[in-house]
Amino acid sequence: MQNLSQLDVQGKRVLVRVDYNVPVKDGLVQDDTRVTASLPTINALLDAGARNVILMSHFGRPKNGPEEKYSLKPVAPVLEKALGRPVTFIAGTADSDETLAAVEALPEGAVALLENVRFSAGEEKNEEGLNGRLARLGDAFVLDAFGSAHRAHSSVSGVAAQLPHAAGTLLQTEVDALGRLLDGAERPYVVIIGGAKVSDKIKVIENLLPRVDKLLIGGGMAYTFIKSQGGKIGDSIHEDDQLDLAARLLREYGDKIMLPVDVIAADAFSADANTQVVASNAIPDGWQGLDAGPETVRLYSEALKGAKTVFWNGPLGVFEFEKFAGGTNAVAAAVGSLKNQAYTVVGGGDSVSAINRSGKADQIDHISTGGGASLELLEGKALPGVEAMK
Ligand code: 3PG
Ligand code: MG
Repeated sequence: MQNLSQLDVQGKRVLVRVDYNVPVKDGLVQDDTRVTASLPTINALLDAGARNVILMSHFGRPKNGPEEKYSLKPVAPVLEKALGRPVTFIAGTADSDETLAAVEALPEGAVALLENVRFSAGEEKNEEGLNGRLARLGDAFVLDAFGSAHRAHSSVSGVAAQLPHAAGTLLQTEVDALGRLLDGAERPYVVIIGGAKVSDKIKVIENLLPRVDKLLIGGGMAYTFIKSQGGKIGDSIHEDDQLDLAARLLREYGDKIMLPVDVIAADAFSADANTQVVASNAIPDGWQGLDAGPETVRLYSEALKGAKTVFWNGPLGVFEFEKFAGGTNAVAAAVGSLKNQAYTVVGGGDSVSAINRSGKADQIDHISTGGGASLELLEGKALPGVEAMK
């Protein structure tokens, strides 16, 4: 990819695609990680003498044009505070003539945030006309939206073809960090994959298995693997259409894959359910596994010891409920304790919030801002945004 230092921005208006698709509740941003992650690029552009930095992003998945609940406006004050300088929020559709006029009227040195780019109909279709209208907003284009790099949308890859362009520092950092998990990872290399569904993660699992020494499976997806071996999983979540695949992976990679040996079973999916610790292949009817059991936690923590590369994606239990957060928190602690010993990467929204809640975030080498994008990269797919910056 072309990087920022290769782009001439002196005196230029620089259009920057960021990913400010952040959690918002009651008009308030709940987690500003993605905003903070965009600051190095914004500051680098200002330091390099850019006339203006014009930020654009999507927010949520609006389907019918502008809608108040999908407005990016709540992000503007958060960005302003993080950046320590004023940010002009330009309401109105990003590709409109009014927005263009507002951008052209910005004083030198101003930073602006455009309204949700998905309010423009052609955005997700990568429509040529829209690409051209967005390109009017800058003299150069920077893609820093790693979380959106797997989308071949106008504001990601479409507009890039029309302006001199480069990858921002976040995009570059993410691609480098996740790339280390695919090529030349130092061994032993241990991956922990959790989450509810095998089907969401299967391509990542298949791409990583030949490269790793151990793959620790956790969360809801473990029950599909356990059932595929004839285990009794009670009422636990599972995918019957993935049983053959799970069985095949265990046949081929049984020496690398670790499954939970015990679970915390609950008599209901609720925060105050009754619980008991049972063997993972002997869960009574009417009970469901909602977290890894103590022996599993011990074995997984053991398996992480001595690792030189570790990647973690997906919680080990229903960590939203305090009672079933133990496995996820224990893995967060175990991964966090590898600082200075292993290269550690955490990706995926749930694991990232778990690592943040665990207080161990500062001990992780790289915390990815990408959900789908980081998984697609680890599947070995070419990301349209990354390709566009080459
Ligand atoms: C995300 O939050 O995963 C990214 O911002 C992409 O959002 P999308 O799945 O709506 O394209
Ligand atoms: Mg997504």
